[in-house]
Amino acid sequence: MKIQTKFTLILSGTFLVALILTGVVSYSILYGNARQEIRERAGLMLESAKAMRTYTINNVKPLVAPLMQDTFHAETVPAFAAMTAFGLLRESHPDYTYREVAMNPSNPRNRPVEWEHDIVTHFRNFTEASELTGTRQTPSGPVMFIARPIQITNASCLDCHSTPDKAPVSVIKAYGETNGMGWKKDEIIGAQIVAVPESVSLDRARHTFLVFMLSMTVVAAISVVMLNYALRRLVVRPITDLTRLCDQVSTGDFSQGDPQTAGADEVGSLGRSFVRMKISLQKAMKMLEG
Ligand code: HEC
Repeated sequence: MKIQTKFTLILSGTFLVALILTGVVSYSILYGNARQEIRERAGLMLESAKAMRTYTINNVKPLVAPLMQDTFHAETVPAFAAMTAFGLLRESHPDYTYREVAMNPSNPRNRPVEWEHDIVTHFRNFTEASELTGTRQTPSGPVMFIARPIQITNASCLDCHSTPDKAPVSVIKAYGETNGMGWKKDEIIGAQIVAVPESVSLDRARHTFLVFMLSMTVVAAISVVMLNYALRRLVVRPITDLTRLCDQVSTGDFSQGDPQTAGADEVGSLGRSFVRMKISLQKAMKMLEG
């Protein structure tokens, strides 16, 4: 096998291994970062939902309370406030959702759909679980969800959510006698579920990964070509020339000029050694002839 072929094979093999290793590492870093980013975005949404709930309890409820003798204003309900605000957010970010679902909700639109039902069931079965994260495939791409259980830790919730005789008349009038009733202290009645789309971040990670790998491959290819070229110019060609000269000298033909002797490298000094050897050989031949 020619030295150039060996060289190319070794170099390409090394680059291939390096590319695979770099690929695996950069893939896991980029996708890890993207997932982290999605998680943080979802976490932020949950936190802002919490802020909206607190705002409703502290700022809205005391103001609206005197108006609720006859008519109930859902605006004072933290769950309603958070979900309504997120409903507005969805106008510009349709793939983001925030829901507070309950197994027996006051408002039927907060009844869990199938996958949400599974989440609430999970929290009810594993009461020590404080958060559940996962990815769901939807028609508009994968969506990451983060869910936290809603537990009745505050007895005041039962003012409206236990039995119809305890609940304000205006609530019963608006929501009926069974909806959102029968909740018990410390029971996990539902879950807060936030969902954020993954595709934007994952697409960005994929794009960065492809550009990075493509540039690495181009750099590797250019290196193989350049080193090949240098090997041919600096080593292979001078050695081929020298081999041809050696063959001719060995048949007693001294007529062909001298090899390349310029250059301070090993090939140059090989050429110079050859020239010295040729001169000595010529002298020796002459002495023999003479
Ligand atoms: C003043 C009565 C009242 C109190 C007190 C109250 N809620 Fe509600 N809650 C409601 C009403 C009414 C709704 C339905 C709002 C709507 O139309 O979306 C609701 C909705 C909810 C929902 C959304 C699911 C559903 O049932 O529609 C959750 C979850 C919830 N409440 C939890 C709580 C918790 C936890 C507490 C205690 C911290 C609490 N509520 C205290 C009246 C109340």
